[in-house]
Amino acid sequence: MPDTWEALEHDCKNCRECSLWETRTNVVFGVGNQNAEVLFIGEGPGANEDAQGVPFVGRAGHLLDDMLEIIGLKRDDVYIANIVKCRPPQNRDPQPAESEACMPWLREQFRLLKPKIVVCLGRIAAQRMIRKDFSVTKEHGQLYEKGGILFMGTFHPAALLRSPQNKPAAFADFTALRDNIETVCKHTYHKD
Ligand code: URA
Repeated sequence: MPDTWEALEHDCKNCRECSLWETRTNVVFGVGNQNAEVLFIGEGPGANEDAQGVPFVGRAGHLLDDMLEIIGLKRDDVYIANIVKCRPPQNRDPQPAESEACMPWLREQFRLLKPKIVVCLGRIAAQRMIRKDFSVTKEHGQLYEKGGILFMGTFHPAALLRSPQNKPAAFADFTALRDNIETVCKHTYHKD
């Protein structure tokens, strides 16, 4: 695997490791600050993301931006990626084989970024990154330590658009996240 962000993104954009390449418009590699201490992981691109090649640019993305703003962060203070980099047709869940085939890209993003806190947006990301039977409803907002990195699962913004009654719980997760970032991360809120 390549050693620079540029080379990794270039290789990722040519990936044909699963059949999602056949229907994609763009590979959605990830965006944000390549020195970020906080990594957000979603599920996979939707139609808007596939069209633009950028994660979380549709309605769910605007809600994510609003939630970041509430805790005093912008996209450029964090890094945002997905479990699968290509859109599953009709926005279906990524199949396990597709997630598996795509994981090496995320592993390399981890290796280059060295995040201190990872926020898993929704069940697909949380079950892949935290625990196979993770329940967002029951375990959102809790911190799990793995290999010196803190992981938190919370509601996917698209799920919050469908079930707005969960927004207060999600906002509480983000407030707790802000406190944890202040404790664990050196630079996120203190850029010179
Ligand atoms: N949903 C996701 O999980 N990721 C995106 O990039 C957009 C919507």
